[in-house]
This record gives sequence, C-alpha cells and structure tokens, in this order.
Amino acid sequence: MRPLPIPGIALGCDYNPEQWSPDVWREDVTLMRSLGVDLVAINVFGWSEVEPRPGEYDFKRLDSVIELLHQHEIRINLGTATASPPPWLTARHPEVLPVAADGTTRHPGGRQAYCPSSPIFRERSLALVEQIAQRYGRHPAVALWHVSNELGCHNALCYCPASAEAFRGWLRDRYGTIAALNEAWGTAFWSQRYGDWTEVGPPLAVLSLRNPAQALDFQRFSSDQVLEQYRSEVAVLRAYTDVPITTNLMVTAHIRNLNYWSWAPHLDVVANDHYLDHRLADPAAELSFAADLTRGLASGRSWMLMEQAAGAVNWQPHNLAKDPGELLRNTLAHVARGADAICFFQWRASAQGAEKFHSALLPHAGTDTTAWREAMELSAVLDRIGEVAGTTVEADTAVLFSWESWWAAEGDGRPSEAVHYLDQVHHSYRALRELGITADVVAPEADLTRYRLVVIPCHYLVTDAQAAAVRRYVEGGGHVVVTFFSGIADEHDRIRLGGYPGAFRDVLGIVGEELRPLLPDAAVALDDGDHGRLWTERLRAAGADVVRRFADGPLAGGPAVTRNRYGSGLAWYVATQLTPDGMRRLVGDAADRAGVRPVAPENDGTLEAVRRRDGRRSYLFVINHGPHEAELAAHGQDLLTGEPVTGRLRVRGGGVRVLREEPTP
Ligand code: GAL
Repeated sequence: MRPLPIPGIALGCDYNPEQWSPDVWREDVTLMRSLGVDLVAINVFGWSEVEPRPGEYDFKRLDSVIELLHQHEIRINLGTATASPPPWLTARHPEVLPVAADGTTRHPGGRQAYCPSSPIFRERSLALVEQIAQRYGRHPAVALWHVSNELGCHNALCYCPASAEAFRGWLRDRYGTIAALNEAWGTAFWSQRYGDWTEVGPPLAVLSLRNPAQALDFQRFSSDQVLEQYRSEVAVLRAYTDVPITTNLMVTAHIRNLNYWSWAPHLDVVANDHYLDHRLADPAAELSFAADLTRGLASGRSWMLMEQAAGAVNWQPHNLAKDPGELLRNTLAHVARGADAICFFQWRASAQGAEKFHSALLPHAGTDTTAWREAMELSAVLDRIGEVAGTTVEADTAVLFSWESWWAAEGDGRPSEAVHYLDQVHHSYRALRELGITADVVAPEADLTRYRLVVIPCHYLVTDAQAAAVRRYVEGGGHVVVTFFSGIADEHDRIRLGGYPGAFRDVLGIVGEELRPLLPDAAVALDDGDHGRLWTERLRAAGADVVRRFADGPLAGGPAVTRNRYGSGLAWYVATQLTPDGMRRLVGDAADRAGVRPVAPENDGTLEAVRRRDGRRSYLFVINHGPHEAELAAHGQDLLTGEPVTGRLRVRGGGVRVLREEPTP
C-alpha cells in the first residue's frame, strides 16, 4: 500500500468530458478551481472514444482534456477506459458477452457487457491499456491510475463456455485431481460424482437445489477472475508508470460477489464507492460499517472514497435527495473512519443517458443552487480539517467479516432463507455503534490480539486456522461474542460434526443439538423480558454459564445466551436474534467486562463519535444525525469554527464538530 497521492483531505470527482463540448470543458475547469477540486477521474468510460474502431486510436480529445486540467493544476486519476467494451467489440465478438446462470446471454446497450474470463476481452482491453499507459505513463498531471470501474459490479458471475473452461483450470489448480474435487464437493450425494474434468462446469440453473460446495467454489473463482483482470491491467501499466494504481471497490450492502480481503494486497491505495442505500432501515449505520470495513481492507491506514453522490442516485426504487446538512454528515462520517480523500460521482450532471437523473457536484441548474453552495461549504470544511490526514482511527473492538461466510451461509438448502449474513453483521455492528464503540472490521484471519472485544456474527464457514486463531485469542484473555449460525462448516462447506457450532464448541463451552429457525414473523420470549426472532437452537451448556434462557416454546428453559470462561478470556454465544435493544444490552455487558472504552455515550444510533490519532495528535469527530442537541465530554479546539471547547462539547441537531483534542486539564 502507498500513501494517497494528494496531501490533506483531497476533494475529487469523476469527470466525463466525452459527454460535453470543449467550451463546456473550459467552464468546467474554471468551476473546478473555484470549488477546490484536487483530483479528477477521467477516461473511465472512454473506450469507444479513444478506440473508435478496432486498433485505431484517437487521443485528440483526451490529450486536450488532460492538458486543460494540467494547466489548471488539477491532478488526474486516469482511467484505463476498459470499464465497458465499445459496440464494435461485442458486435464482432459476441462470445465476449456474459451469460447468466440460466444460460441466456446478456446483451450490450448497458455497461460492463463482457465475460471476465473472455480471452478476447482480455486481449483487446490490455492492448488499449498499453496505448494509454505508453501515452500518459509519465505525464506529470497523473497522480493515480483508475483501473476499469467497479470491476464485477454487474458481470462478476458469468456462466459462458469461456468461464466454464477457466473454472475447470481454477479447480485443477486448487484440487489437483478429480478425486480431490469429488471429495471437496461431496459428490457422493445425489449421484454427482465426476469421472473426468470435462464433466465439471459452473453451477448453471438446475431443477432442484444446487451443490453448495460447487456454488461456493464458483464464487471464489469468479472473485479471482475479476481480480485477474485488475492484475493484468496493473501489469501493463507498471511497465510505463511509477504512480500508484487502484480501482474503485464496492463495499456496500448490495454487492457481494468479490472477496475484497484477497483483492486488498494488490491495491496501491484502497478506494471505495459508497452510496447511501434507502432500501435499508438505517442507511447512515450502513455507511459507518462500510467505511470501517474499507479501513479494514486498507489494514487500518488511510483510504479514499472514490465515489459518493452529492444528492440523489438514480438506481434505487426511490431516489431520495439529501437533506440539508446530510452531505456534510455523510462525508465527515467517512473521514472520521479513515478516508483521506472524498470524491464524487460525478462532476457535472449528465444531460443524456441512463444517469441523467443522478446528482452531481454541478447540478443541471448550475451554480446558483443550494447543491452548489453545499459543495462549496463542504470543500471549505475539508480544507479546515486537512491536518487529520494520515492519522489512524482508534478502535479497541473488532467485528469479524467474511465474504466466504456470506456466500456459504446463503447457499442452497440452508435452514432459513430469512437469515441473511449481512443483516446479521449489521445487527451486531449496530449494537456497537449505538454503544458509542468504534470497531475495526477485520478479516477472519486477522491478528485479534490487539482488541479487547471481538464480535463474530454469523461466521458460518470457518477454516481450521481461523478456528485456532479465535481459540488462541480467547485463551490469551480475549473476549468474543459469537452469534448464531457461526462455526458450522469447514472451508468446503462440510458440516463440522459432533454438535454445533463445531469450530467454536470448545471455546464457547456449549453443544448445539438442533438448529430450529423460526418463521419470519414468529418470536420467542426470553427470561429477561426480551425476545428472539429468526432463529433458536436446542443447546446444552458444556461448561458455559447460561446467561439467558428461552422462556416459551419447545425450548423453554433451554439456553439462549451463554458465557464461557476459556483460558483467561470470555466467550459469549447468542443463539437467537435478539431485539436491537436486547443486543445492545448484551454487547454492552460484554464490552464492559472486556474493558472496552466507548467514544460516544450510549444513544439511539443518531450520535457518532470517532477518534483519529497518530501518537502525538488526536482528533474527535462528532456527527449528530438526530434532530436534538447532543452533548459529550471533550477538550480542545473545533477545527471548523476555531472555538475552544472546555469540558462539554455541544453538537446541534444535524450538526458536526471536529475537535483537535487537548488532554483534560
Ligand atoms: C457507480 C459507478 C458510476 C456511476 C455511479 C452512480 O456504481 O461507478 O459509474 O454509475 O455508480 O451511482
């Protein structure tokens, strides 16, 4: 990983000059200067312009845009233009098009209409990257390379013949022999035993349930294949440039096909795109989670927000504009959680195309608008807090996150379709956030020893090494809260036998006999007055204390929450989905016992406080999403207003404060 290319907290945006004439470009750069834009992503969707016909390159317009930005001292995040193939490519080579699980082809006319395993796509895209790298690889305005765009957003899973061939190659590398593959996939079941590699293929639509191990490997393969496109482009770029290279990830609620833990080591800079999702119950909490996970991908170091929306998006069923102050709150939530660059999709709102109703820094109505004034205000705020750049977020708690568990826990034939991995992660995370606790979101292989408390939600698929790491951590004094449907299967999605949750049974001191999910609208009473939903288990304590019991239904009197002393640590198990209040109480109890130090007082989720530090300096970000004034103890100077704060920090409803902290006198 390398430092972000712009000092301070950079302001940036996507810019699509292809959609505009040169006189508009001149106005754009002037306005960019007045807004204080530092970094502009261009040529992201430029392929059909820079290569209008196969092998015929035309860089006239791109040259002019680059020179114009350079003259105005605006740095460039240069796209490799491979995000979407031009019509000539898919018309000449329809075999490049992606195929869905039902065997039907997805056509051009949208974007990203290519198979990630297509040799033709790879060849043509790399030829283009080479041209661009040769031409601009040493250009002084280029501060960063932007490979493709949101790789795998639409096309991660392709089932075409080229994908099938590549999948077989990937499986051979993984398993070596067909016998090992049969073993791993459990093909003795339903007469699925393979005699030869040629019989093996992707998990196409079937009449019944699919083989979950096959589907899981296909997810792994697909993530690797999309990463391969990234790595191939990087390899071409590297021959011509020393500038950092990245791509924009999609750590967000609706994208799940890419295992970014395996991507992160290949990125010079971790960059994420994040859009508030109004389909969720608490979009601001999801933003915090996504930002913490992005920081996890950056191994705790600074990262960049490569895209967010100034106002509404255009791809949700109901595209809500931002409320007054919301842009600032969202942005500072990202910065508080480690973002050192804030970029937008996009600079100027499009007049045509599928995104013409998507907001932009410069709206259709121009600069005499509230949106523009808010953008100007935001830019001024980012300048005022520039000194926080490079500091790291302080967290003594972690949430364990696993894309493999996400895939496997939602495989065919599971106990309940109502149990969604990410919902369960959010449920745990929300409790921490409402307790005012800052959490790192970490990989299942992460070193846990620096945390006082680790929450392990719905971690269904657990390798032996991961199980051993959790065991060692608790043995050495760590505290964990493990929630239901964790520790069930090994890396091949094979059940760990002998009682649930096989991977953590000893640490938790319990034996699960039977998984008993509930119907979606059912609830079960607990002996502390709370109730559980979605899930119950017939459990027996095997060393653990029973903290809460089921109070009605067939499991009445049986354990619902347990706590086990293991080595010098403490391990909790939660066998149902507690109410948000119940979960907050439980996690609060666990956090107290672990000695966790919250940053904000306990609240209903509307008050966020996060601390960034670098040893000598310390900054407190406070964001009040609620309508009422909030208060907390603090000392220092407000970077936004210059005011000193001595003892009590007040934050008006909807307001934000950023404090350079001083030690309490
Ligand atoms: C992102 C994408 C951008 C734009 C944006 C709209 O997913 O990278 O190109 O489509 O969404 O919200």
